[in-house]
Amino acid sequence: MTAASEHAGDAAARVERRWGTISVAIIVLLVAMATYAGIHQAVMPQPRVETADPRTLHIAGEFIESNLGSALEPDGSVTVRAIGQQYSFTPQCIVVPADTPITFRATSADVVHGFLIEHTNVNAMLVPGYISTATTRFATPSERTVPCHEFCGAGHQGMWGRVRVIEKAAFATLAAGQRRLSCVAQ
Ligand code: CUA
Repeated sequence: MTAASEHAGDAAARVERRWGTISVAIIVLLVAMATYAGIHQAVMPQPRVETADPRTLHIAGEFIESNLGSALEPDGSVTVRAIGQQYSFTPQCIVVPADTPITFRATSADVVHGFLIEHTNVNAMLVPGYISTATTRFATPSERTVPCHEFCGAGHQGMWGRVRVIEKAAFATLAAGQRRLSCVAQ
């Protein structure tokens, strides 16, 4: 072996050790992050468990009938409040603007129902006693169906709602005249 090639061998070994150290460090970091996240999640209470008494939904609070439907918030987003009951949703037709952050808040008045808006990430269970939330955005005006996808009794297969996505400007016009919007009876 010449001096030059010995030198090259040393250099290669040094580089190899350095990269070896870096890859071990990356693995250690990832394991530490996963451990921290796992322990953190296990020791903290669930961040947001919101409750709503199904026996008094219609009497007081967020889910009284006059408060159901779509509300335009001061920040321009829209909050939709809805309930599921055997065998319909209230409102049965939800109207929302396109290209706007939409937050759904829903619960059940009786048994477990499903709330799935086709072609979106919204897929929730409506559990009596608890408020389910989901956030989405609809790119363009469209009509979506909302099947109840949890078996809820004899009329389950007939439990369908609708979401009507309309132009942002049209929604703003409607919202100027009403506190809560829906497209029931339209
Ligand atoms: Cu409600 Cu199935």
